Amino acid sequence: MRALVTGGAGLIGSHLCEHLAARGDEVVVIDDLTSGRRENLAAVESSPGFRFVEASIFDESALAGAIAGCGEVYHLAAAVGVRMIVDRPVHTLETNIAGTERVLRAALAAGAPVLLASSSEVYGKSVAVPFQEDADMVLGATTRARWGYACSKAVDEFMALAFARELGLQVVIARLFNTVGARQTGRYGMVLPRLVRQCLGGGPMVVYGDGSQTRCFADAWDVSAVFPRLLGHPGARARVFNVGNDREVSIMALAERVRARVDPGCEIRCVPYAEAYGPDFEDLQRRVPDLTRLRALLGEVPMRELDAILDGVIAYARATPE
Ligand SMILES: NC(=O)c1ccc[n+]([C@@H]2O[C@H](COP(=O)([O-])OP(=O)(O)OC[C@H]3O[C@@H](n4cnc5c(N)ncnc54)[C@H](O)[C@@H]3O)[C@@H](O)[C@H]2O)c1
Repeated sequence: MRALVTGGAGLIGSHLCEHLAARGDEVVVIDDLTSGRRENLAAVESSPGFRFVEASIFDESALAGAIAGCGEVYHLAAAVGVRMIVDRPVHTLETNIAGTERVLRAALAAGAPVLLASSSEVYGKSVAVPFQEDADMVLGATTRARWGYACSKAVDEFMALAFARELGLQVVIARLFNTVGARQTGRYGMVLPRLVRQCLGGGPMVVYGDGSQTRCFADAWDVSAVFPRLLGHPGARARVFNVGNDREVSIMALAERVRARVDPGCEIRCVPYAEAYGPDFEDLQRRVPDLTRLRALLGEVPMRELDAILDGVIAYARATPE
């Protein structure tokens, strides 16, 4: 089997490439390295048939060349991170909407099934936790830039399901919750690598809001292990699955757990969201996946404990300057 991973040099994509190579796939990556790093692929560079195409998914001939002969497509390339969304909304919307359309069209032409990496952002401001896949989206006003990302991922889902229904493309949608691990950059606003690097640098560690907001963190290795199982499962076709960890932790507790491991004397400073992301920024208090559907299809989904995840992220940050 040859498999294409768009965005394969990123956090989740690079771990996915390792799973695919381990099962014997020839892995092809297309990535423009906007937020990914070539070094992330060190473990698969020498695996048989591995190919790296440094190009954007907007480059139609590069995309067609990369997809040729592939029996599966994992579409992960996207503009990600709150910082990116707030600072570069045009880039975010174009990459996530027009870019996904190109990948779906290329996959249709190649006859290859597609796994689409979507986001729990599509639940928006819903307070109906845990979030169930068929629940309503509750999105904020279009004047607030952050909802553009949520909308772009929702449009991706609509588009993938439309390609399935109308054109017969085989698709599955993985709606990801916070996914972390070694290799994640903190440059675009991802909370865990940012807190870890702030603490390693002597602080202060900056928590936005009062830190009572909660998230559920899953490890990129565990999350990406689910993808080939979903794409290969006949019961997953044209369906949406929450993928993540359902154990909740407040951002303040997360900061405290990082601090206890790295530097117990480090200051944790709370900063209003408005100061960090501008006056029109809205955040969400809780975001918890309902994993019933995923468990029913795949059985138990192995999800690492947060302490083990933190150890890995801290060790990586110590060894790798940003
Ligand atoms: N990490 C999370 O918490 C999380 C949560 C929800 C959804 N997701 C989704 O998972 C996917 C992977 O995210 P990640 O956390 O690994 O982020 P990442 O930034 O590490 O990976 C994204 C990759 O896409 C590449 N890319 C961006 N634009 C591109 C383009 N035009 N052409 C080719 N490559 C391009 C980047 O260089 C990067 O390597 C994304 O679709 C993201 O929306 C991630």
